[in-house]
Amino acid sequence: MEERILAEPSDAAAVSTEFEPTRRTVIAAMTAGVGGAVVVGGSTVAAPVLAAEEAVAAGTPPSGRLSLAVNGERHTVTVDNRASLLDLLREQLGLTGSKKGCNAGACGACTVLVDGRRVNSCLTLAVRLEGAEVTTIEGLAPGDGDLHPLQQAFIDQDAFQCGFCTPGQIMSGVGCIQEGRTGSAAEVREWMSGNLCRCGCYVKIVRAVGQAAHGK
Ligand code: FES
Ligand code: FES
Repeated sequence: MEERILAEPSDAAAVSTEFEPTRRTVIAAMTAGVGGAVVVGGSTVAAPVLAAEEAVAAGTPPSGRLSLAVNGERHTVTVDNRASLLDLLREQLGLTGSKKGCNAGACGACTVLVDGRRVNSCLTLAVRLEGAEVTTIEGLAPGDGDLHPLQQAFIDQDAFQCGFCTPGQIMSGVGCIQEGRTGSAAEVREWMSGNLCRCGCYVKIVRAVGQAAHGK
């Protein structure tokens, strides 16, 4: 009895090893056994179709040429039609002040002004911005060594910790002030609610926007 109990696991292991499919054997069986077809998402797809799609994917992506002003400087660029304004700014123009947090419109870290209006640059197609005037955190200060009043207010109010959200907070705050949405702390909170801060600096951010808007 004892011998049988001890023998069973090794027998089972032998069976398991012999028949357990591996990733390699499954792929081999699928490609060889069904005449070069493969299974994608539960459906069988002919190999030539996949090959054609891969060829398209490997080709030059559709692109467009546009001219726009960023922080007062005119740029003429060729962009992938699928590229976001955020990627244009960061990858092509080297303006990395605008941050990529969620890349999905949920955090506000990428906020910039387009023709004076605040937008999530991660959700804005670059190719649609022909003739636009874009302002990023890099172009906010007047250029004479002084900071923009809201940048100074963030320092005065100690309104950041890690700083990752800060460029987006400041650009959104500038938009908030320009839109006249600073009548009360509650109004600022409401109209800045699209900008998240993982460090939880909200109270001081609201104070900073109030300081820049009303000098207090
Ligand atoms: S990176 Fe654009 S909203 Fe988060
Ligand atoms: S200061 Fe760290 S996320 Fe806002």
